[in-house]
Amino acid sequence: MFRIDIDNINGKTETLYVYGEQSILTELEAHNVLLNHSCRQGHCGACILTLLAGDVEHQACLVDVSPGEILACQARPATDIKIGLRGF
Ligand code: FES
Repeated sequence: MFRIDIDNINGKTETLYVYGEQSILTELEAHNVLLNHSCRQGHCGACILTLLAGDVEHQACLVDVSPGEILACQARPATDIKIGLRGF
């Protein structure tokens, strides 16, 4: 089980515990953490998050992500992670 700490745009940190079997986007939705998204397939870039700590398994995608950024729909936690939301 992995811990996901989420720094949200209000300056608060929420914590979730997940098994890491689903994408971070799906996990956040299951815990009522809303996040921009559209394609869910790594094509649009709407779900970009900042990875502040930890490691993820990231599927190949068509979007150029900068170092330190991940696509929530294409990434699963590989360790405990801390992520930052970019806003809605
Ligand atoms: S929802 Fe489109 S890249 Fe994640």
